[in-house]
Parts: sequence; C-alpha cells; structure tokens
Amino acid sequence: MTGASPASAVPPPLLAVPPRPQRPLPPLRLLRTAASDTVGIFDEELFDELVVVRRYGIATLAYVSDPAGIRHVLVDRFDDYPRLPLIRRLYEPEMGTGTLATAGPIWWRHRRIAAPTLDRRALAPDAPGLAAAAEAQAEALSGQVGAPMNIEAQVSRIWMDLLNRMVTGGDPRGLPILAWLAKVPRKPKALDLMPMPAWLRDRLSPARQSPERQALRAALRGLIAERMAEGYAGPQDLLWRLARATDRETGQRLPLDELRDEASALMGAGEATIRALTWIWYLLGLHPEVEARVHAELDAVLGAAPIAPDHLRGLVYTRRVLDEVMRLYPPIPIVPRQARRRDTICGRTIPRGAIVIVAPWIVHRHRKLWSDPETFDPDRFTEARSRDRPRFAHIPFSVGPGMCSGSHFASMQMLILVAALARRYRFRPVPDVPVSPFGGISLHPRGGLWVVPERR
Ligand code: HEM
Repeated sequence: MTGASPASAVPPPLLAVPPRPQRPLPPLRLLRTAASDTVGIFDEELFDELVVVRRYGIATLAYVSDPAGIRHVLVDRFDDYPRLPLIRRLYEPEMGTGTLATAGPIWWRHRRIAAPTLDRRALAPDAPGLAAAAEAQAEALSGQVGAPMNIEAQVSRIWMDLLNRMVTGGDPRGLPILAWLAKVPRKPKALDLMPMPAWLRDRLSPARQSPERQALRAALRGLIAERMAEGYAGPQDLLWRLARATDRETGQRLPLDELRDEASALMGAGEATIRALTWIWYLLGLHPEVEARVHAELDAVLGAAPIAPDHLRGLVYTRRVLDEVMRLYPPIPIVPRQARRRDTICGRTIPRGAIVIVAPWIVHRHRKLWSDPETFDPDRFTEARSRDRPRFAHIPFSVGPGMCSGSHFASMQMLILVAALARRYRFRPVPDVPVSPFGGISLHPRGGLWVVPERR
C-alpha cells in the first residue's frame, strides 16, 4: 500500500459517492441497479479483496483488481479478453469497423493505423491552436460571473469546439457530426441486443434509416474524401492524418468507409474528457488549499502570457491534481471484458464466457492498493510517493494494447482547459445542491455540477 497522507487535524471533506451495498446484491437487484448506475452495484467486499469470482447460475462475474490480474487480462492475454459483444454491438451502428466496435484482426489493423494519428508527435502542431481557442472560450464565460451555471454543460460545449479544431481544423460542418457521435452509444433497444448481421439491423431499425443520420454519415465521409483528394490544401488535422495513415505491417491504407468508421470512433470516444473536466471543479471547490496551489502554479508558470505548449511541462502540480481527480472519479469507471476460454487469474478459475470486470472505480479506491483511498490528496502522485505503487493501481485510460488511444490528446486538452479556466475563475459550489455521481459508460454527476464562477 502506498501514498499515506500526512496527519492532519481537520478531517478531510466527505466526498460524494453512490450508495455502496454492504453485501453482494442478489441477481435481480444487481441487474436493476446496473441499468441506472453501473458503479452502484459494487459492494464493500470488492474494495477489500483483489479478485472476487461470483457465480449466478450459469453466468460468472469476476472482479479483477489485483495489478497482476489486470496485467493478465488487459495486457498479456489481451486477445482472450475482448470487449463484451453486447457493448461492441451498441457502438457498431455508427462505428462499424472502428476500434470501439470490433475485436480480432480488424481491430488490430485499425489500431495500428489510427493510434499514431493521436500520439504525442502527431498532436504537437495542434497545441498552439488549442491553447488559443481555450483562452478565448474561457474569456467568453466572463459574462456569467456571479450566476450559478452547470459547469458540465459549459465544459462540454468548449470541449466540443476544441475537439472540432483538432479533428477538422475547426470546420463548422464538424460540429453537428461531433454532437451526434457524442450521444453514442444510445440507450439500447431490444433490436440492438439481438445478434444479427449489421446490414439486417440497419434495414430493420427506423432510427438508422433517419435522413439526419444518413446526412451526417455522408458529411463525415465527404470531409475525409476531401482530404484524400489530390491537391488538397486545407488543414492538416486528424481527418487528414487518418486519410493518409498506413499500416506499418502491410503499408496499406484504410478504404473510405472504414476511415469513416474509425473517424467516428475517435470522434465519439472522447466525451470521457468532459467528465474529468467537470469533477475537477467539484474537488477544487471542496479543497481550497489545493485550489490555491493550482492558482499559485498557474501564476508562476504562465505569468501574464497566453498559454503556450511549452508551459504545459511546468504545470507539474496541476497534472497531479488531474491524476487524483481521475483516481477518485474515473471518467470511464468500468472496463468489462469477456473470457474467450477457460483461464486462471491469480490462482482463481475463470470459466469460458465469464464477464471479467476491471473497474477503475474499484481499483482506484481499493484498500489494499491505496491508503486513505477516499481522501483527495494530489501529492500521492509525487515521484517519491508513487515509487512503490503497483503500476496498474491507477488506470484511468486502461492499459495494454486496447488502452485509450486518445490519452495524449485528453491529457493535453485537460491541462490547457484547466489552465485557461483556473487562471481566470474560482468555481464556488452552489450551496444545498447535492452532488451525486452515477455511472453509465462514463461517470456523471446526476443533474450536472452547479457552481458559481468568481473572477480571481
Ligand atoms: C479523460 C479522458 C479519457 C479517458 C479517462 C478515457 C478512457 C478510456 C478507457 C478506459 C478506454 C478503454 C475502454 C475499454 O477498453 O473498454 C478508452 C478507449 C478509447 N478511447 Fe479514451 N478516454 C479519454 C479520452 C479520449 C479521447 C479524447 C479520445 C479521442 C480523441 C479517446 C479515444 C478512445 C478510443 C478510440 C478508445 C478505443 C481504443 C481501442 O479500442 O483501440 N479517448 N478510453
């Protein structure tokens, strides 16, 4: 266990969490609870035991929080633990062959082609434009100083603008496509849950035949086709990089329809960033001493200058704060997998077909992995206090070949946006509005997060 916090006379504030059952939920309650709050099913035992295997008739649920077990499932035996077919099916209508919706050889090919378009080197030219846009968007909030606002909604709007700059160079045709993809996956209908070929599902589902959807898909295809054309002289954005990207193993490019699928996955997967950019203001609002250190760092590193890419390296404490925000409120709280064959994880038998749950929500609050796990303490991420921590105790972006391909972009976008907002404002919690986290695919505050911005 690592990361003990220094003794303090004042008890730390209690943080909002969903109700935690004392004992495992019986099967029907488990299903009912999971439908409205995926993290509300996690009972006390899961935060004490590193591997828990439970059988429900012919079904098995295995919760794996042991760092060695996480490595086994997500890294070493990656191909034996694909994403749940049900979850892939929910992404499949819009993302087809894209990385969120596939497994096996198609996934590997897409991953080899797509991931480098979002790596640190590819993103470097985007940073100055993103920083300038974040500053402008943050300044535009000044008209709302003193009035309660749902910061989640504000951040979501700003995030979309920044994402559109990275993806399409700021083309206004990108915004409705992003807004549509941000809603994927939609609430499943019975038809989505039945296994059948994609073309048949398309025929049977009226929503998939909607003219709006067809138009947005065609628009995205068109934006990519423009970038593939000879003589294209527009921005060298994500779609441009994707259109030209080749598979390092075969030298081949993706055909246009598969490019559209992959672009949809990359454009739709990033909304987790909004969650981290929301929870941070909740935690800073409760911890003025941490907020003061963030402000002091921003003042020292930025001075009066506009944010520039070189500043980001200096924001060491702000980075720690973001790491701690994503520990306590992991934007993606659950990474579920299905065992393709019988296996043994940390000495426990896992039958074929078992659902294996690696849950950042559990791992990050596990009593055997963290001391004072329920306390917000960014300094647990100092180099000295991180040294003895198992590598897979902090996994907000998951790990292994299937880890988040947008993690560099997300980290850069979060740092820039936190800097742009926190150098201008304090966000005070609105009194008497309860904060209540709940898990879907990502971890939201129910009803948003209400704050009052004050000029610093
Ligand atoms: C704080 C922000 C983010 C967090 C915490 C996060 C977290 C994650 C996690 C945990 C996964 C693995 C899910 C699973 O395997 O079931 C994932 C996958 C993915 N993420 Fe992110 N993500 C973030 C932002 C982004 C952004 C900004 C993008 C794109 C611009 C992105 C693109 C993707 C894609 C494409 C995948 C699927 C990867 C694959 O299968 O190859 N994410 N993300």
